[in-house]
Amino acid sequence: MGAKAGVGALGAVLLAVLTFLAVSSWSRQPAVVTPSAQPINFPHNVHVGTYKIDCQYCHSDARRSSSAGLPSVERCMGCHKITGAALPEVKKLAEYHAKKEPIPWVRVNKLPEFTYFPHKAHIRAKLKCQTCHGEVEKMTTFAAQTGPRLVNDLLNLVGLRPAAPPLSMGWCVDCHRQENAKPDIKAPLDCIACHH
Ligand code: HEC
Ligand code: HEC
Ligand code: HEC
Ligand code: HEC
Ligand code: HEC
Repeated sequence: MGAKAGVGALGAVLLAVLTFLAVSSWSRQPAVVTPSAQPINFPHNVHVGTYKIDCQYCHSDARRSSSAGLPSVERCMGCHKITGAALPEVKKLAEYHAKKEPIPWVRVNKLPEFTYFPHKAHIRAKLKCQTCHGEVEKMTTFAAQTGPRLVNDLLNLVGLRPAAPPLSMGWCVDCHRQENAKPDIKAPLDCIACHH
């Protein structure tokens, strides 16, 4: 009787865990990176490509925290009080600043809640942002692979551009296996490292 109840309880827990995983993977978007409409049309190509601003000047949490972080309105205004002040998209920025409101950026890369991805470990291992996020310096809108150039559009049309990597478990694990072939690298393969 006691043993049966024990098995029953274990079964119920397992069922709950599986249901949770299944529901959380149904209810979310598939983990592919697609461009999203943003409150301000922020062009990475202008800032990184043309003006050579370092990724970590704006995403400054990447080396010390699990998330990379987004820049504050103040950080943008450090340049934009003067630079481009007359451009329509920069005026929107100044409005958020005047209202003392954060910009409601739409999140693009998002793993499901039951996974753990730390930027810090990857930046310390000297991986380039672009290995995982693609050629951000050419993007007019994040995740849109093309800049306003005929050559880019033609390349996309014939499908020559490599697609952004899907944020799948296979992608993480494949790279961990490859990296572990190098000396002094120990990228985890145990479930608990990425699921806790
Ligand atoms: C090993 C792959 C990898 C590398 C290298 C990497 N990222 Fe990420 N990045 C991810 C993944 C995966 C997510 C989604 C994380 C999540 O949802 O928990 C993400 C999310 C983000 C986000 C949005 C959420 C957040 O953390 O603020 C930003 C911004 C970002 N990365 C910027 C960068 C920058 C800048 C660099 C380089 C300094 C970088 N990433 C390097 C894989 C990577
Ligand atoms: C280190 C300086 C610097 C920082 C910080 C900076 N920008 Fe810029 N930004 C520029 C320069 C330079 C231009 C080009 C201006 C021009 O073409 O007259 C620009 C252009 C722009 C444009 C106009 C693009 C167009 O052509 O319509 C927008 C929008 C913009 N930035 C938004 C932002 C936002 C939002 C932030 C904060 C997340 C930010 N910028 C942070 C330097 C900066
Ligand atoms: C001037 C500031 C600035 C610089 C420099 C910059 N970014 Fe960003 N980045 C932003 C802002 C603002 C957003 C949010 C709007 C968007 O998604 O386009 C963003 C979004 C992102 C995202 C998507 C975040 C999400 O929601 O998943 C990634 C990934 C990213 N940046 C990577 C990079 C990389 C890699 C570099 C360097 C090659 C870089 N950024 C340089 C300001 C910057
Ligand atoms: C391009 C290669 C690459 C990709 C893609 C990648 N990783 Fe890693 N990962 C590494 C390397 C390299 C390390 C660091 C190993 C070391 O420091 O010895 C690491 C370390 C880690 C660690 C250990 C952190 C610590 O503090 O020890 C976790 C957790 C992790 N990765 C999760 C993920 C997840 C989740 C994904 C997919 C969303 C992912 N990684 C994708 C290369 C990668
Ligand atoms: C290096 C990181 C990493 C390791 C190690 C890892 N996972 Fe995952 N796992 C992920 C990521 C990231 C996702 C989310 C993938 C997505 O959203 O498509 C995921 C998704 C899942 C899912 C949800 C189903 C699905 O495909 O969306 C299950 C179940 C799972 N992992 C079980 C495991 C088990 C069991 C192990 C150990 C054998 C393990 N994982 C090891 C990163 C990892």
